[in-house]
Amino acid sequence: MPTVLITGANRGIGLEHARQYAAKGWIVHACARRPAAADDLQALLSANPDIVQVHALEVTDHAAVDALAQRLIDVPIDVLLNNAGTFGPQGAPAGMAYQSLGNMDYDIWRDILEVNLLSPFKVAVAFHDHVAASDMKLIVNMSSGLASIKHNQGSSYAYRSSKAGLNMLTRGMAAEWSDVLVIAMAPGWCKTDLGGMDAPVETADSVRDQQALFPTLTRRDSGRFIDAHGVTVPW
Ligand SMILES: NC(=O)c1ccc[n+]([C@@H]2O[C@H](COP(=O)([O-])OP(=O)(O)OC[C@H]3O[C@@H](n4cnc5c(N)ncnc54)[C@H](OP(=O)(O)O)[C@@H]3O)[C@@H](O)[C@H]2O)c1
Repeated sequence: MPTVLITGANRGIGLEHARQYAAKGWIVHACARRPAAADDLQALLSANPDIVQVHALEVTDHAAVDALAQRLIDVPIDVLLNNAGTFGPQGAPAGMAYQSLGNMDYDIWRDILEVNLLSPFKVAVAFHDHVAASDMKLIVNMSSGLASIKHNQGSSYAYRSSKAGLNMLTRGMAAEWSDVLVIAMAPGWCKTDLGGMDAPVETADSVRDQQALFPTLTRRDSGRFIDAHGVTVPW
C-alpha cells in the first residue's frame, strides 16, 4: 500500500488525513509534537497498529526533522503532507486581533513564519528523496485561500504573509525538482481549532476531496496553487 507522512497529525485536517488514509489501508506516518497527549492519534494507532506509526515531531526543530528523515531513510513516501501550521495562539477569528495594521504582535508573527514558512521548507528538503523514491511522488504544502494576493482584502497579515511565502516556496520547488510533484493546497475554510466552528466546510469533506484529487495530479500540476477540487486559486 502507499505511504503518507503527515505533520501536525494530532488534530484538525492532519488528523482527518491520517484517519481517512488509515481507513484506506495506507501506511500512515503521523507526526505530532506531543504524541503522549495526542489521544485521537493514539486511538487511531490502537485501532490500526500494523499500518499507523506515530512520531514525535516539533517541525521548528530542524535537528528533529533530520533525525526523523534519517530514521525513515528506507521508506518511500508517496504523499508528504506538510500540514502543521498556526494562525497564532488563538486561532481564527480571535487571532486576527494581534495581526492587524493597528495591532501587530511581532513575536507572534515571527512564530507564525517559523511554523508556516521555514518549517515546511525544512521538511520538504529533508524528505525530498523519500518522496522521489515513491510511486506517487507528491509533496503537498498546506497553504490557504488567505494566501491569495489577488483576493486579499486586508487583515490577518501574519498568517497571510506566511502562506503567500509558502506558495513562493512551492513554485520554486516545482521548478527545481523534476522528480516530484509539489502543490500548494487551499483546503477551504474548515471547522478545526484553527478555522473555528463558524467555518462552512466540514474537515472530513475537504480531506475526502483532497485525497480523491491527489492521485489525479500529474507533472503539469506541479507548482500549482489549487483547492481541494483541483481548481486553481489565483496567486
Ligand atoms: N482550518 C482551516 O480553515 C484552514 C484553512 C486553510 C488552511 N489551513 C491550514 O491547514 C493546516 C492544518 O490546519 P488545521 O485547521 O487542521 O489547524 P489545527 O486544528 O489548529 O491543527 C494544527 C496542527 O498543526 C500542529 N502544529 C502547529 N505548530 C506546530 C509545530 N511547531 N510543530 C509541529 N506541529 C505543529 C498542531 O499541533 P499541536 O496540537 O501540538 O499544536 C496541530 O496538529 C495548517 O497549515 C493551516 O494553516 C487550515
